[in-house]
Amino acid sequence: MARIAAGADHAGVQLKDELVAHLRDLGHDVVDCGTHGPDRVDYPDFGEAVARKVATGEAEMGLCVCGTGIGIAMAANKVPGVRAATVHDVTSARLTREHNDANVICLGERLVGPELAKDALETFLEASFEEGRHIPRVAKIDALLPKEEVAP
Ligand code: RB5
Repeated sequence: MARIAAGADHAGVQLKDELVAHLRDLGHDVVDCGTHGPDRVDYPDFGEAVARKVATGEAEMGLCVCGTGIGIAMAANKVPGVRAATVHDVTSARLTREHNDANVICLGERLVGPELAKDALETFLEASFEEGRHIPRVAKIDALLPKEEVAP
């Protein structure tokens, strides 16, 4: 079981809450970074909050939800050590773990239904980084940002 940081803006909060409950049912330890209601908020704040938990090692993985899963991923990817992937299907969820060593999954509540989102999230958490030829490629991604926090 993993410790997972979760966050969403107002356009993703319903799906985020459903996924947080699902993760807890599965036995995962979830740190819910908000938001917690329908009031309009800015998705970068929640992408950053989740990303910082992952970058500092307080969480092993992150889950971000906004309307599309795109803006919140852009924000999360600004934090060194974080590799956030927007995912719309189960295959992408698996491959971004296996090839990119993604540590934050981003989903769009306006684009992805809750059952697909649950399947993609579970697949993401169950898959593993394949290492090998992917190690130097991922290292090149990480080298694009200065190291201010170091993930374990
Ligand atoms: C909010 O309206 C929406 O712009 C946001 O949730 C997200 O889709 C941005 O990428």
